[in-house]
Amino acid sequence: MKVLVIGSGGREHAITWKLAQSDLCEEIYVAPGNAGTANEPKTKNIDLKAEDLEGLLDFAKAKEIDLSIVGPEAPLVMGLVDLFEENNLLCLGPNKLAAQMEGSKIFMKDVLNKGNIPTADHKVFSDAVTAREFLEICEIPIVLKADGLAGGKGVIVAFSREEAFEALNSLMVEQKLGSAGDNLVVEEFLKGEEASFIVLCDGKNVIPLASSQDHKQRDDGDKGPNTGGMGAYSPTPLITNELNDEIMNKIIKPTLAELKNRGIEYKGFLYAGLMIEENEIKVLEYNCRFGDPETQPILMRMRSDFLQLCLKASKTELKNEIIEWDDRYALGVVMASKGYPEKYDTGFKISGISEENESTKVFHCGTKNKAGEILTDGGRVLCVTGLGKSLENAFQSTYELTSKISWNGAFYRKDIGKRNK
Ligand code: AMP
Ligand code: GLY
Repeated sequence: MKVLVIGSGGREHAITWKLAQSDLCEEIYVAPGNAGTANEPKTKNIDLKAEDLEGLLDFAKAKEIDLSIVGPEAPLVMGLVDLFEENNLLCLGPNKLAAQMEGSKIFMKDVLNKGNIPTADHKVFSDAVTAREFLEICEIPIVLKADGLAGGKGVIVAFSREEAFEALNSLMVEQKLGSAGDNLVVEEFLKGEEASFIVLCDGKNVIPLASSQDHKQRDDGDKGPNTGGMGAYSPTPLITNELNDEIMNKIIKPTLAELKNRGIEYKGFLYAGLMIEENEIKVLEYNCRFGDPETQPILMRMRSDFLQLCLKASKTELKNEIIEWDDRYALGVVMASKGYPEKYDTGFKISGISEENESTKVFHCGTKNKAGEILTDGGRVLCVTGLGKSLENAFQSTYELTSKISWNGAFYRKDIGKRNK
């Protein structure tokens, strides 16, 4: 089979690496990919951006691609799957309507409320004056969320009323995130531990993937600004077998049923960001895709043929499918560039990257190859991932490799996987 993977981050490198292991897989094209994807067997990068829908369609037709797999949210929200399906091309991901689960927080909260799915109480505002009146009297902390896609920058947890006013000003008055801030969700602050619960859907059936936990703050001890994710591990002890069933029955299945009520059949990866406090579980957010960096440790543990699985999901054939997992833990540490998540420089030469062994893998997030050298090309640069019999063993092997890799301005958290100790 010929496969097209769309995207360029650590998630897409992990997807490509896993697909390449399948006997079914003959060729993989990654648009646009990075230096890591280019190095995988059977794989070529192509110079097309993930948002270039027409370019991707032309390429998939010309190369007679058998299956396309979409990594990031933007092309899904823009309707890439709809376009491919109209052209009779198999493409794994939610269509434009279904991708609203991530594309619009207002839509997502409405699905949750109508489906009686536990989540934070919220209000929607479309003008700054009324929003401010509410912020003057609401309980603090309070959470402000831009309705639209904001590349991970649209959520502000305000720990004082001043911060809440500042956030309102930046989102709605100054429109720092453009039209994403036209409408605002203001919601109750939830306490607890966060976990990521990702499922694979085929429009009719759904299978949970292994559980995981991300670390969103930049610095050790969950300090510093929010980021796209600084590291993740799988499985997380927070999600016991019992909780797994409860999440499927009280959250995932009712969500898919409520979407079905609206005529939407969800296909592809669906990511629930959960807040867990004393076995009470609430949905913080939904994403219409696989998580980054959660994909890296999750796919390190997958024993099943990933291409077969994606193919079955795209053809509505997941019924009775079981995914086999490695019993070991996997842990991924993101190495980032000085300045991330704000401004950072790129183009630094990376050294020590080739020290992988059979239980570790360096997934590339933002890298490029220039004249045979691997250079940094993003804020999150690498996700070093390792397996171990215990979380502690996975921690040791991953950090041992991480400490050998360096470039000018590299930094990483030293406490991934230590939160629930
Ligand atoms: P989201 O993009 O919705 O996941 O939000 C980003 C991060 O903001 C989450 O991972 C949480 O850490 C935090 N967050 C979002 N909503 C809430 C909430 N209602 N209460 C507490 N923290 C929240
Ligand atoms: N790791 C968080 C996300 O993928 O949105």
